[in-house]
Amino acid sequence: MLKLAIMGAMEEEIEPLLANFSDIKVTEFANNKYYEVKFNDIEIVIAYSKIGKVFASLTAATLIEKFGCNKLLFSGVAGAINPSLKIGDLIVATKLCQHDLDITAFGHPFGYVPGGNVFIEADNTLIQLAKDVALEQNIDLLDGIIATGDQFVANEERKNWIGSTFNADALEMEGASVAVVCNALNVPFLILRSISDSADMDAGFSFDEFLKSSANRSASFIIEILKRIK
Ligand code: ADE
Repeated sequence: MLKLAIMGAMEEEIEPLLANFSDIKVTEFANNKYYEVKFNDIEIVIAYSKIGKVFASLTAATLIEKFGCNKLLFSGVAGAINPSLKIGDLIVATKLCQHDLDITAFGHPFGYVPGGNVFIEADNTLIQLAKDVALEQNIDLLDGIIATGDQFVANEERKNWIGSTFNADALEMEGASVAVVCNALNVPFLILRSISDSADMDAGFSFDEFLKSSANRSASFIIEILKRIK
């Protein structure tokens, strides 16, 4: 039986999802709120983690281990690295990495620690479902690499380094940590992001301006996925 987790990092990222439901059961756990809803016959638990890898890991693990979710969708915004990505555009992660994980002093590649992998792949069936939705809705959807780190990148040099080191198309602050948790617990996952900025000098202003509209785009796309998910 499918029990679906949908998470974001910020309130703005899940608010447009919650707006689709009237009957919501709220549970408080570990300094956070979890919103249980039903869509058609699917049980869904929605939460926002707060920003960054640690909070995102806690929320993903809670959704899976405490609430019993067996599939996870992440909805939110990201900074663009790939110049073809413009504000509002959607990207679905094929694989994710942690750009700020660095034990290169011991001869390891960036993003690697022993026992882990630089990249974690998202679920192919969910990616294909997202592509089907995009095709049907006539929406452009890029599939690409997302790099995650505990920093808001507003610096062209740092952004270009992340782009060239990991061949990444977009960056954000939670995806790869959610991927680590889901991978370890054998839960298929999808990371969807809509672009809010270009991770450059103007990123802070752009983020403030487009957070809501881009988060809404991502959430609307998630609702379309819900209509088709099995
Ligand atoms: N999420 C959206 N934009 C971002 C940026 N520039 N850096 C990190 N996370 C982001």
